Amino acid sequence: MMKIIFKIFVIMALIFGGCSKPKEAKPEIKEKVKLTYAVSPGVAEREIVEKFNETHPDIEVELVGFTGDTGEKHDRYVTMLSMKSSEYDVLDCDVVWVAEFASAGYVMPLDEYIERDSFDLQNYLEATRKSVTYDNKIWGIPRFTDLGLLYYRKDIVEKPPKTWNELTEQAKKYMGGNGTQYGFVFQARPYEGMVANILEYIRAYGGQVIDEKGNVVINSPQAAKGLKKFAEIVNSDYVPKDIKIYREGESEYSFLSGKSVFLRSWPYIWAVKDNYRIRENVGIAPLPKGDAMAASTLGGWVAMVNRNTKHPDEAWEFVKFLAGPQGQKIQAISWGLLPAYAPLYRDLDVLKANPYFENPDFLKAINTTVPRPVSPFYLQISDIIQLEVSKLIEGEQSVEEALEQMEKQIKEAVKDIK
Ligand code: GLC
Repeated sequence: MMKIIFKIFVIMALIFGGCSKPKEAKPEIKEKVKLTYAVSPGVAEREIVEKFNETHPDIEVELVGFTGDTGEKHDRYVTMLSMKSSEYDVLDCDVVWVAEFASAGYVMPLDEYIERDSFDLQNYLEATRKSVTYDNKIWGIPRFTDLGLLYYRKDIVEKPPKTWNELTEQAKKYMGGNGTQYGFVFQARPYEGMVANILEYIRAYGGQVIDEKGNVVINSPQAAKGLKKFAEIVNSDYVPKDIKIYREGESEYSFLSGKSVFLRSWPYIWAVKDNYRIRENVGIAPLPKGDAMAASTLGGWVAMVNRNTKHPDEAWEFVKFLAGPQGQKIQAISWGLLPAYAPLYRDLDVLKANPYFENPDFLKAINTTVPRPVSPFYLQISDIIQLEVSKLIEGEQSVEEALEQMEKQIKEAVKDIK
């Protein structure tokens, strides 16, 4: 009986199976992975994302605009990352946040990906490689590097100053020439940009905040000279009365709209100057020397991956493009950003857009940049400097008092890592 039932079943299966239409081979529709990239979007970032999306049909990156100065961005990131949010996959981060974000577990180490894809990190400028290394791991890919530079009006200044003393003399002498109102503008508002400026003066006169061994050495006669110079300039009559609220934006506008003879800022000015009337008259030079050396603060931004991203592989694909040679070439040409990827300094298209990259003085400056302390407590160190220097320039304390305070508080802030 069982045999008969089985035969009937087989026959039915053959009949019906034979009648059924062959399944149409449906093309497999793969859902695009959507990624978000948090950045202050400029022309370059939009262009990079567009190119990436075009060439990576399985991934779609969306730009999420983060505005404000670096401190404001930092605080917004920390609010989101400390809640383990996965809202943003790839993050544009200031170099000074790397140690903090790594030690807080906000971002992913990238070593495995770098190794798997033989990613060419060795060809990145050494200072930028160091800036993404913490606890022997790599936490981000340097997207571009930054350094403090001096811009001046070629139609007013005969020869750019070589020392801070010369700069102050020239600022007084030339102020008022060709419609200018001020001699010098820079960043003196209490935020990260002010710290970048102050460190240039401290270093130029031979001082340091933390030495190579991790000792807090800010309270020195050399640092005192640097701070005195900074305070003298802030309170001089050749800078705007409201210089204490100037960040990058205010100083850029003041200089490029023709109001100031000199400007201390970052390399991006070279590209944005083309939007202004005075573009032909903008000269660029390394920052002046103190009595020890010329020093430019090392800045820059790094692409990092949120530790809680749901798409780490795709996020890495985007980081590779964005902060790799392709992305860096786009942003060097359209936004004047300094490549962290060293071979681009020999790329003819990049040099055509930024002829000053070949200037020996500039190359010297780029190789003698001063990094800010790499520490998970960097933000605290920076806040201490901002507050104490503000009291100094407001006349509420002397240089000596400011240095004593900074020494005491910075030692307290970093005591757990020594
Ligand atoms: C620039 C630098 C960054 C620095 C910031 C200060 O964006 O690249 O490192 O912290 O300016 O405003």
